[in-house]
Amino acid sequence: TLKKVTTITELRTQVAQWHEAKQRVALVPTMGNLHAGHLQLVKEGLKVADHVVVSIFVNPTQFAPNEDYQSYPRTLEQDCEALEKVGAELVFAPNVAEMYGQQDLSTVTTVEVPILSQLLCGKFRPIHFAGVTTVVNRLFNISQADVALFGQKDYQQLTIIKRMVNDLYMPITIIGVPTIRETSGLAMSSRNGYLTAEEKQIAPRLYQILTHLKEQLQAGEKAFTALEANAVQQLQQAGFKPDYVAIRDANTLQDAQVQTRELVILAAAWLGKARLIDNICLILN
Ligand code: PAJ
Repeated sequence: TLKKVTTITELRTQVAQWHEAKQRVALVPTMGNLHAGHLQLVKEGLKVADHVVVSIFVNPTQFAPNEDYQSYPRTLEQDCEALEKVGAELVFAPNVAEMYGQQDLSTVTTVEVPILSQLLCGKFRPIHFAGVTTVVNRLFNISQADVALFGQKDYQQLTIIKRMVNDLYMPITIIGVPTIRETSGLAMSSRNGYLTAEEKQIAPRLYQILTHLKEQLQAGEKAFTALEANAVQQLQQAGFKPDYVAIRDANTLQDAQVQTRELVILAAAWLGKARLIDNICLILN
């Protein structure tokens, strides 16, 4: 059965007992309002570890003042029910003071991955990824987990976390899990809940447009800038306000070159109140 804790001490005590018994612990960091995408991370965690800890914390340092920190959906009861069903054993749901202490959030020690954090979504959300790496580093240190799972849905986030772990020699293995989608193709996201009924009909177009772009690349098209611009225009016509569509090197997130084989197509676009992101990886041969 699922145990819910709110303090670092309780989490550490439990993990220490598991480690004492030579058992492996997986961590799934989340902001809650869990859907099938999050639950897939738990299921994958159970394959590689003996116990799965899920953290649920809406992290204030990764939201800019104009963003949805206040309105982000908080559904802890339902989340715990869903986690119990898939076999997670421990939920860590701290409050802000437990995570960051009583200090002013602008004064906390931070971890930042330069360059990668300023590209793509970082251009539109300049403080976002520093907030993510700062909280994820704390979650790794607090939990002492052996492995942590992240979704490929947030491709830039996953890339930045792998880089942080590598650069700082963090003793944890990072596993990326493929994106879980609705039957329409729409990537599952807590922010899909911001969409109106009408917008929900439009939302799957994002993945369709990226899929079409993938097919153009597979057919050998190399005019990347024109392909990106064309996809942006298609998004606009469908009713989105696109932030970007970008064809990048899947490993570095730098601009793709004609000879680049491992590509990722990434996009972010507003639809009403929701900022949707999605991506598709492809390997050319
Ligand atoms: P959140 O948006 O709650 O996502 C938690 C994890 O679930 C992330 O690793 C995300 O990539 C993954 N995820 C979300 N939707 C998914 C989908 N449709 N398929 C597969 N995985 C999916 O990402 C965050 O929270 C935060 O930034 C966090 C890492 C917890 C730091 O605060």
